[in-house]
Amino acid sequence: MEDRELIERIMKLKKDRNAVILVHNYQPGEVQDIADFLGDSLELSRKAAESDADVIVFCGVRFMAETAAILCPDKTVLLPDPEAGCPLADMVTVEALRRKKAEHPEAFVVCYVNSSAEVKAESDVCCTSANAVRIVEQIDGKVLFVPDQYLGRHVASRTGKELILWPGFCPVHMNILPQDIEELKREHPEARVVVHPECRPEVTALADEVLSTGGMCRYAGETESQTLIVGTEVGILHRLRRENPGKTFLPASERAVCSNMKRITPEKVLHSLEDLSPRVEVPEDIRLRAKAALDAMVQVG
Ligand code: 13P
Ligand code: SF4
Repeated sequence: MEDRELIERIMKLKKDRNAVILVHNYQPGEVQDIADFLGDSLELSRKAAESDADVIVFCGVRFMAETAAILCPDKTVLLPDPEAGCPLADMVTVEALRRKKAEHPEAFVVCYVNSSAEVKAESDVCCTSANAVRIVEQIDGKVLFVPDQYLGRHVASRTGKELILWPGFCPVHMNILPQDIEELKREHPEARVVVHPECRPEVTALADEVLSTGGMCRYAGETESQTLIVGTEVGILHRLRRENPGKTFLPASERAVCSNMKRITPEKVLHSLEDLSPRVEVPEDIRLRAKAALDAMVQVG
């Protein structure tokens, strides 16, 4: 099928099904180009919650589609490739979290949205990279932060709080090394450096700004700087370049590729709209408890 025909079929089916296509900033360019809304985890969960569509096609990874399913029980949530997971989210299981909670019964559990619905259900509040500092600032007392140790360390340094950290990490962001940034800074001394808080501390230490993917997109539009070194998954460069045609964006590392994000294609989006599958559903008892943790996040912002 020609690209144009494929897009036309997606657009027609989308209308027939009253569907909305939500796309994460790391998706392949051709998927970003069919988005009704393109954004970071927090922005996409807000869009899902406020949408009046019957069907949400979630172009991202499972925990993101699950978050939409938790927030929108009356909508059909589709993940065009059911294998699109997140290795970071898989680094905490509900059993392991329960054991850790038993060691620290007084701790408030803050769970990064990159986690399963079961783990969210076992937590007090969720956060994303966009609001983690604000969420933790509001908490008095001990905090157990799961599963990303590097986001946790970043939050600890910004809030001055000591957090109990979980040993999870994003393997994609681990591929960005301090020497990658140092080399690019030598070649482009005028460039500003923006990195995601999932990066290693030695990398965040070299950054001018540590931002969520949505924060990076806003910063790119606002900064006077004409060259940015971008320390996150390379899919975001498509959006940054499209929205800021006069500026130069350099990936901190070409190795920062999330293969799970790249599983989604326009063909799979079409198939999922045709078949209304694969669906993402969360059992009601887990959904209600996970929703309480997400609602607690949304209240803070
Ligand atoms: P954002 O919430 O910043 O979009 O990040 C999601 C993610 O998976 C980062 O690896
Ligand atoms: Fe998960 Fe890392 Fe991929 Fe984000 S980039 S979805 S944290 S594996």
